[in-house]
Amino acid sequence: MPAASAAPIGVFDSGAGGLSVVAAIHAASPAQPMVYFADTAYAPYGTRSDQEILARTRLCCSRLLEHGVSALVVACNTATANAIDDVRAWAPVPVIGVEPGLKPAAAATRNGVVGVLATRATLASQRYRDLLNRVGSQMPQVRFVEHAAVGWVELVESGNLDTAHARMLVRQAVQPLLDAGADTLVLGCTHYPFLRPAIEAVASGIHIVETGPAVARELKRRMGGSSAAAASGGEPTEADGAPRLLRFESSGDAQAFAALAQQLLGAAPAAQPVALARLQATGA
Ligand code: DGL
Repeated sequence: MPAASAAPIGVFDSGAGGLSVVAAIHAASPAQPMVYFADTAYAPYGTRSDQEILARTRLCCSRLLEHGVSALVVACNTATANAIDDVRAWAPVPVIGVEPGLKPAAAATRNGVVGVLATRATLASQRYRDLLNRVGSQMPQVRFVEHAAVGWVELVESGNLDTAHARMLVRQAVQPLLDAGADTLVLGCTHYPFLRPAIEAVASGIHIVETGPAVARELKRRMGGSSAAAASGGEPTEADGAPRLLRFESSGDAQAFAALAQQLLGAAPAAQPVALARLQATGA
């Protein structure tokens, strides 16, 4: 095991969405090294079965543990909803997940109507229902209106964030929430922050809740002083502020993923293909 202060944290998502969490971690802890695994050969997760999501999450987290990571960040709402309890039961490091920010949204809304955008699998999960019931019982005056944002993950994976098709898909999902009166929108999928300009074009002035910064704070809290996550010094970035301490792996086309990461993060990462034979197994 590398020394705790030098060990990277492992960040995982079905694809590029978790890069929005990487950006937040980097902003909070610029010296924190990270290994990022994108399961692009199996993205999107949001339309897969619970069993498939669990099996893929197990494989991807196991792969990250091979790097001697000091913590795992499941930077995917869909994987968190379906598999985080399982991973926590066997992973030998802290496991931090991400879930839709219902509570901060309930605290922020002025008219008591919150729109929630997430994948179908997240919205259908027991974990999401439990969260909704918990927040609902604490703040019964707030109404949550949900919508599964069809096609948004694919938009981000293709890098087509500012096309007529993207604007159409964004409007299709956001308009029903606006019609229901939402003044606050929860982005319950880590891919969605990359569509924020398109969302704001449809819903100008709406309050948007992302979860990346909360995950970064939680990581810092959980790792205490024992990790680079707690450090604010070091030699973290180029002058452009892009994360430097990253290693990317992908179950799909690693070079294509590197190019997408460069587009989304503004960095120029080196991509490393992983052992595909092992990561292609789908059985739990
Ligand atoms: N970024 C993901 C999430 O937060 C994954 C979405 C998907 O692959 O469908 O849910």
